[in-house]
Amino acid sequence: MLGELRDSHGRVMRDLRVSVTDRCNFRCLYCLPETEEAANFYRTRWEGLGKVRPAATPIAYEWKPKAQLLSYEEIERVARIAVGLGVTKLRVTGGEPLMRQGLEGLIARLSGLAGVEDLAMTTNGFLFARKAAALREAGLHRVSFSMDSLDAANFRRMTGRDGLNEVLEGIRLAQEMGFSPVKVNAVVIRGMNDHEIEALAEFARERNLAIRFIEFMPLDSSRAWQRELVVPGREIVERLKARFGLQRVDQTGHPSETARRWRFPDGRGEVGVIAPVSEPFCGHCNRLRLTADGKIRTCLFSIEEHDLRPLLRGGATDQELASRLVEIVRGKEAGHRIGQADFVQPARTMSCIGG
Ligand code: GTP
Ligand code: 5AD
Ligand code: SF4
Repeated sequence: MLGELRDSHGRVMRDLRVSVTDRCNFRCLYCLPETEEAANFYRTRWEGLGKVRPAATPIAYEWKPKAQLLSYEEIERVARIAVGLGVTKLRVTGGEPLMRQGLEGLIARLSGLAGVEDLAMTTNGFLFARKAAALREAGLHRVSFSMDSLDAANFRRMTGRDGLNEVLEGIRLAQEMGFSPVKVNAVVIRGMNDHEIEALAEFARERNLAIRFIEFMPLDSSRAWQRELVVPGREIVERLKARFGLQRVDQTGHPSETARRWRFPDGRGEVGVIAPVSEPFCGHCNRLRLTADGKIRTCLFSIEEHDLRPLLRGGATDQELASRLVEIVRGKEAGHRIGQADFVQPARTMSCIGG
């Protein structure tokens, strides 16, 4: 091995998350809330709290021109070098990764890398059914779907798209085809979908899959995030314990997992709670992110990015790229600063960073 990706806080990177496009076919309330319904929701929430919404400028975004996106060959190269430096988990994200043509070609390249133990994808699921067979064939191990609501009207309010049936079909198919485990991520927003927490958990039990409830983080393009909209993980757990009598999953030996996990008493399905806002887990973070345009982000909330494209396109050797990665990781921030006086929301939304 060429060395390892150890930061100055002693954490060693094992998980590389690759965004393959910044485009998305959804307009989620917590990410790209540019629908009228989303604007109305945030306005009424601020008014309801008797607060004046700060005049923060929304984050303007334009899709990156194709020439700026890393090619599949370039992504494979960065991934291969990262794997040579000790990364074992790869996750393909977006935007919506299935918006990029021929994604199965990238999956095939990545699954062929020696040393990759886990190859996953995060998708909104809308296009999944038509791509599932090709992705499976290319060697994708598992899929996490984003699904915040089981109610068609609420789903539309949250995502800007009438897509619930397509997503449900995608989830069903993923299970039928043997992708395992299938996870479903639901970002919980107070006053929007928090009344669906029990129903979503029941869905996980019925379908024997893992649902993960995620606290809303300040990564939305409208900069409308406010703490009052966050439903703390602890509240979610208390509600679900009261309803289902959940049992804690033993996670000893897996300190870098983002979710605290619970099992249903009858052994089918699982509930996870990801609480980065109320209970930050940065101390055990082993994640590194590569944006679609070739920048390394050492944290979801990084203010600074590190551009690999000039090296990739300027004739750098693998050794030079590896040394650069080692140097970048050394400077990884201790953690996010949500809630601190000096917190600055990153200039890019989740759609560019990839969950
Ligand atoms: P697996 O457990 O291996 O499936 O992966 P994971 O725990 O990384 O989960 P996943 O990639 O599905 O991430 C779920 C969500 O957790 C993301 O969409 C983010 O909202 C949140 N999340 C994941 N990683 C981080 C992180 O490093 N920091 C913060 N603050 N949130 C994260
Ligand atoms: N807060 C929390 N999670 C978010 N995601 C996107 N934006 C946010 C946010 N503001 C997560 C969703 C989605 C994944 C790609 O990123 O879980 O499934
Ligand atoms: Fe890692 Fe940053 Fe997430 Fe903290 S906020 S867990 S440091 S990516």
